[in-house]
Parts: sequence; structure tokens; C-alpha cells
Amino acid sequence: MEIDSILNKKIFSRSDLVDLLQSEGQAKEALFNFSSKLKNETVGNSVYLRGLIEYSNICSKNCFYCGVRRGNKSIERYSLSNAEVLDAARYAFQNNFGSLVIQAGERSDRNFVHTISELLKEIQKLSNGQLRVTLSLGEQTEDTFKLWRESGAHRYLLRIETSNRELYAKLHPNDRIHNYDERLKSLDLLRKTGYQLGTGVMVGLPFQTVGILAEDLLFIKSLDVDMVGMGPYVEHELTPLYKYKDELLPKADRFELSMKMIALLRILMPDINMVATTAMQTLHPQGREIALRIGANVVMPNLTPLKYREDYQLYADKPNIHEDTEESLQELELKCAEAGCVIAYNQWGDSKHYSSRQKY
Ligand code: 5AD
Ligand code: SF4
Repeated sequence: MEIDSILNKKIFSRSDLVDLLQSEGQAKEALFNFSSKLKNETVGNSVYLRGLIEYSNICSKNCFYCGVRRGNKSIERYSLSNAEVLDAARYAFQNNFGSLVIQAGERSDRNFVHTISELLKEIQKLSNGQLRVTLSLGEQTEDTFKLWRESGAHRYLLRIETSNRELYAKLHPNDRIHNYDERLKSLDLLRKTGYQLGTGVMVGLPFQTVGILAEDLLFIKSLDVDMVGMGPYVEHELTPLYKYKDELLPKADRFELSMKMIALLRILMPDINMVATTAMQTLHPQGREIALRIGANVVMPNLTPLKYREDYQLYADKPNIHEDTEESLQELELKCAEAGCVIAYNQWGDSKHYSSRQKY
């Protein structure tokens, strides 16, 4: 079938998506042009800023792909002090960021749950309720999700990583805390608790097929999420999955495939927020800008104090671990402009999808 007639369909089947994921040459260009145009017509060319605070690399999990997994004994474990978190939040507020993301390894002990709750309240205080906070702190109980929501968090990002059960099992230890159904349950609880919900997958994982990626797209659509953070898998030497490094797609192809995923999700869900991730930049020097051009509309400048960044490497060669934020902010403005986008300062940047959901 001609590419244009597929792109203009109202409903995409798995096999349409597989075809589009495999498009090359002119067909691929047509896909990117289509998603880029649709993005500008639907959510415009604003880029929303989320200041990223990598709060802690202490994690009770052992995901096979991740550099901060519990089993990696070669990194120093840290947690920011409350003062460091609040300084970063103040920086975001004073620099006209509309929102923050607090991300960390997964923990569910009382001390952690309580500290996050206190920090959320403090952040609301110091910004007069003007900073929207997204949490990315893994699976938690319903009570914890509720507590954090009531303490001031509005959004939660929990990636499904892959929607395919068999692949999920290959990427995680076979135990209760790494369970696919538990992850689904958490996503459900987050929706019920009233968060703006985000999920996402990694692209280019070992054993992943384009069929699985097509199903990921349909899965994300069926969850009716408000935001998506998805990006290429980048192998990390100190993880069990590293042994499959020779079976991975070459980095350039993994990057391309991630861009096709972004473009297709923009077409399937035109009004959601989508992040241009740092992992994209790792695989391609202009990765983030390309993502912004074809479909993404959110960037997350890193506000973690520099001394900790070395130890928060989920994947190898993570960019900006030696760069300070102001330098990257100026650079970011230029790069957004190159991508035809403008940074939307002082805006929460709730996804249009969420705002429309509220009306019904
Ligand atoms: N490559 C790319 N992304 C990764 N993440 C963890 N490890 C890697 C990796 N090796 C992502 C996961 C997780 C998020 C915090 O980081 O998708 O949800
Ligand atoms: Fe921990 Fe998240 Fe890394 Fe898994 S992906 S080991 S939960 S930080």
C-alpha cells in the first residue's frame, strides 16, 4: 500500500505499524514529515521544560539492563540531601521552569516514602504552588501513591519498558518484585489516584522485534496515557544484558527506530506530551533536536548537582555528566530554535490530552 494512504488511516493495525516501522527512504521521510506537521497542528511548537532531579541511585531492584541495579557494586550510592533537592527546585523556579521531575531508583521503605512527601510539600511552599512535580520513583503501594499525590505531585512516569510479557521476563529477574502484572497494577493505581499518567518503552532491546514495538505502540494508546518517555536502549557494561551487545541493532539504526516510534506515537496520540530523552543524544549528537522536530515536545534539563552525575548512569556514555545546567540551558535554546521550536517558560505544560480528559 502507498505510504500516504496508510498515514491517512483513522485506525492503525499492527501490520500497518510494522510496515511504517520498516519504512525506508522516501516512505520514511513521508512518515517524519507527516508526524512533524501533525505535531505542529496539534500541540504547536512549544517545548516544555522539566528540571530533572536524580534524587538517588539507591535501588532495591535488579533490572538486567540498568547501570544502577542493586547488583552493580562498582558505583557509589548517594541520595541528595533535602537542601540539595530544594536548591535545585529553587533554581528551576527562579529560572522560569514550569515543572520538575524527581527520579530515583525504586525504594519503598518508610523513611524514603516520608522524605519524598516532605520534599513535595516544601517544593510547593517555595514555589507558591507554581511548580508542577512529576515523580518517577517506580512501583509503590496505593497508600504511597495517594500520600505523594496529596503532598503535591501531579504527574507520575512509570515505563512499562516493554509491553511483551515474554520479553519483560527476559529483561528482569524472575521474582515477585520484577513482575509484569505488578507493573500493570501500579499503572492502574496511578490512574485511579488521579495522576497525569506517563509510560514508555525502550527501543532496540535484545530479542525485541518490530512486531513487539508495534504492539508497544498499541499498548500505550490503549492505556490512554497523558505523557510518554521512550528512548533507545543503550547497553551498559556492568549489567547482565551486556552479553548480547553483538546482537543489537547498530546504534544509528537503533536511533532511527526510536525516531520512528516517536513519529508513530505522535500520529496515534496527537495531543500527548512526549519527551526528547537524553538517551537519544547518546546515540546521535543531534538526537534530541531531531526528536523535537518529528514529534517530541518536552525536554528535561538535568539539575542534579554535578558531583553525583557520574553515579547515575543508567546506561553508558550518558551525556552532560560534566556540564553545568546554565551552559546547557543556553545551548538548549539554540538547539530548540534549530528544530523550529520555542521553549515555553513559566508554563506547567500539562498535556493537551490531559486537559481534554478533564472536560468530560
Ligand atoms: N538504556 C536505556 N534506558 C534505560 N533505562 C534503564 N536502563 C537503561 C538502558 N540501559 C531507562 C528505563 C527506566 C528509566 C529510568 O531509564 O526505561 O524506566
Ligand atoms: Fe532500579 Fe529503575 Fe534501574 Fe530497574 S531501571 S534497576 S528499578 S533504577
